[in-house]
Amino acid sequence: MKNILITGGAGYIGSHTAVELIKAGFNPIIIDDLSNSQQTVLERLREITGKEIPFYFGDCGDRSLLNKISEDFELSGVIHFAAFKAVGESTQEPLKYYKNNVGSLLVLLEFMEDLGIPDLVFSSSCTVYGQPDTLPVTEDTPRKEAESPYGNTKKVCEDILVDLIKSKSGLRIISLRYFNPIGAHLSGKIGELPSGVPNNLVPFVTQTAAGIREKLTVFGDDYDTPDGSCVRDFIHVVDLADAHVKALEFLENKPTSFYEVFNVGTGNGNTVLEVIQTFEEVNGLKLNYEIGSRRPGDVVKIWADTSKINKVLGWYPQYSLADSLRDSWNWEKNLKN
Ligand code: UD1
Repeated sequence: MKNILITGGAGYIGSHTAVELIKAGFNPIIIDDLSNSQQTVLERLREITGKEIPFYFGDCGDRSLLNKISEDFELSGVIHFAAFKAVGESTQEPLKYYKNNVGSLLVLLEFMEDLGIPDLVFSSSCTVYGQPDTLPVTEDTPRKEAESPYGNTKKVCEDILVDLIKSKSGLRIISLRYFNPIGAHLSGKIGELPSGVPNNLVPFVTQTAAGIREKLTVFGDDYDTPDGSCVRDFIHVVDLADAHVKALEFLENKPTSFYEVFNVGTGNGNTVLEVIQTFEEVNGLKLNYEIGSRRPGDVVKIWADTSKINKVLGWYPQYSLADSLRDSWNWEKNLKN
């Protein structure tokens, strides 16, 4: 069984990926500093998978901890989720973002090269496209200047990976450009655990429905979109997790010095107001919301062309927007109870 190190494996996408890896016959090992996740997730993972996933508490940029893990396990791959992701905070504390997001990747890459660990799946983001000139975006759509230091860390990390592969490093790497992950595991045992007031739409929606927040504000309804609110490509987190498994399996058969980028979305754009409406319909409730002003830095509309990942990795999403919003709400209700 192949041992795969998951940095940030206690987090939202990392925890769901741990489950899918086990289902596919991999042996995940988690390193997480719990800066944006909770230790209880590990118990939940045990309940879902029936397996005790090895867990190392600490920073994935700590080489001595990585060395310790590699003494305990022979690693064949790494999935690198661990990163800061609050767009607003990144504009206030850019160094914190560069140090963590770029710094930890550099440490990991050196570690992988030194130990001959071949395969890496890197968490990138559709943020690298900025507001694209044409839609949907393919992997060849030009990247734009980043809107935030957070966004730029993803671009810089992608650039580092490209340069490394050009240098004939033996690694095999896939960057997955995530669109907007939502939803939760169907068991209702793991999901997104935002700390403090959520920045992202769907956790804010579910917390409003649960009465934790009084009202959702829709940031703008006067954009050039079907109903005036922004358009995003919302992807179920279990589908997104599965894309990581497919990426790892694909890398296994590749020559060394390999690099590819894939969009991971559904291929559909939905507006913020459609999300609210679908959430209300699928869960049979009314959401308290109002229309507010535009949020600075928001992309107006973006959704993915997914033909590359469909064709090359054989990956297709299984869940609809309604499924995702049902599962998000199910998770929020479980949290409340
Ligand atoms: C943003 C980043 C993305 C990053 C993600 C990480 C940009 C352009 N995108 O995604 O790269 O990976 O954060 O967290 O920087 N909305 C409301 N009310 C709310 C919250 C959100 O109307 O209370 C709207 C937003 O205006 C936006 C949509 O919902 O139109 C989605 O917002 P959000 O969930 O924050 O995701 P992105 O901004 O797409």
